[in-house]
Amino acid sequence: MVQTELSSRCQLIKPSPTLAMTAKAREMQAEGINVLSFAAGEPDFNTPEPIIEAAKKALDDGFTKYAPSRGLPLLVESIQRKTSGENGFDCEKNQIVVSCGAKHSIFNSLQVLLNEGDEVLLFAPFWMTYADQVVLAGGKPVIIPTTAETGYCPHPDQIRAAITPRTRAMICNTPSNPTGGAWDINLIKEVAEIAIRNNITIISDEIYEKLTYNHVHVSFSSLGKEVAERTITILGVSKTYSMTGWRIGFSISTPAIATAMANYQDQVTSNATTFAQVGAAAALDSDPALVSGMLQAFTERRELGLNLIRHIPGLSVTDPKGAFYFFINVANHLNGKLTTDIELANHLLEKAHIATIPGSVFHGPGHLRLSYATNPKTITEGLARLQTALADLT
Ligand SMILES: Cc1ncc(COP(=O)(O)O)c(C=O)c1O
Repeated sequence: MVQTELSSRCQLIKPSPTLAMTAKAREMQAEGINVLSFAAGEPDFNTPEPIIEAAKKALDDGFTKYAPSRGLPLLVESIQRKTSGENGFDCEKNQIVVSCGAKHSIFNSLQVLLNEGDEVLLFAPFWMTYADQVVLAGGKPVIIPTTAETGYCPHPDQIRAAITPRTRAMICNTPSNPTGGAWDINLIKEVAEIAIRNNITIISDEIYEKLTYNHVHVSFSSLGKEVAERTITILGVSKTYSMTGWRIGFSISTPAIATAMANYQDQVTSNATTFAQVGAAAALDSDPALVSGMLQAFTERRELGLNLIRHIPGLSVTDPKGAFYFFINVANHLNGKLTTDIELANHLLEKAHIATIPGSVFHGPGHLRLSYATNPKTITEGLARLQTALADLT
């Protein structure tokens, strides 16, 4: 077999441990093993029927051709209505770029912002894609740690101390994957102030904006023109409307940044799938009851899971304020036979047949991330298995 030399750029990327864990769990399930999975970062609901119907109709209506790289006009208009009605800020059409998922919107943002060696502030624990995408854009991730004590929110002084002349951007993710932490308006205002003073771009990943529990989500760009001009707001339909496979996300930034992103995307994917964009527009314009029904289910699962986790000796967890993850501190169980969260996650998969994601993946060692976007039966049975497996370890 010919050995093809791969680019040094592609060797910067490590395979995703989340995908590896999910794949291993699927393999075991295919072998007939009853694996209960808490690994996936996606809702278990089907995409709501009205959205599916809109996309089917779009196919019949001929939405099967190339569309403008920035997005179909009808979706762009839905996004304008959405940001004014729900996020508290208006935007022009030339500020919007529709991409193949929020992940792609973040990728485009970093590609158009960074030069070699530019620094990007990340708040750990963070969604691991951020660091890889920063590196792929030639940048350097600068990691600011946060802890359960502050609900995984940074202190503004930590940010001030991390800024150097090379700091170009910071990625803020509220509500957060993996911790469920969410920033209140005071913190958002202070961080925005720091960004303005230091001329730093805020990449505000608000993909979980609507999945909150007793928390009011605030968009950075709603704080006024000065903040909005320094913010790239990342939004999408994947999590809110259970549309992960549709691959539609979007960004709102300045006209200059948006144009650079659209030009960049034009040479990579062109437009995001045309008929999927019609489905996304139907989602954004849909009856709010669609989302509130799913949010109600997440709220109940969250309560169920929190009660069960609190009864397992040696574990602690902060109440998630948003998204659909428990970020569980398992450090008390890592001082015997197993010493790392990675070993523990593998042990739990092999011996207890439960799939979890080790916190190290997110720069949060000593933790496990369990998604509660799964049915209540899996939550009850899976957490019982976790309790037994941890008891057997001690
Ligand atoms: C914090 C965060 N941002 C963005 C995404 C990606 O969203 P999309 O599926 O729209 O690319 C995810 C998905 O897991 C996420 O957790």
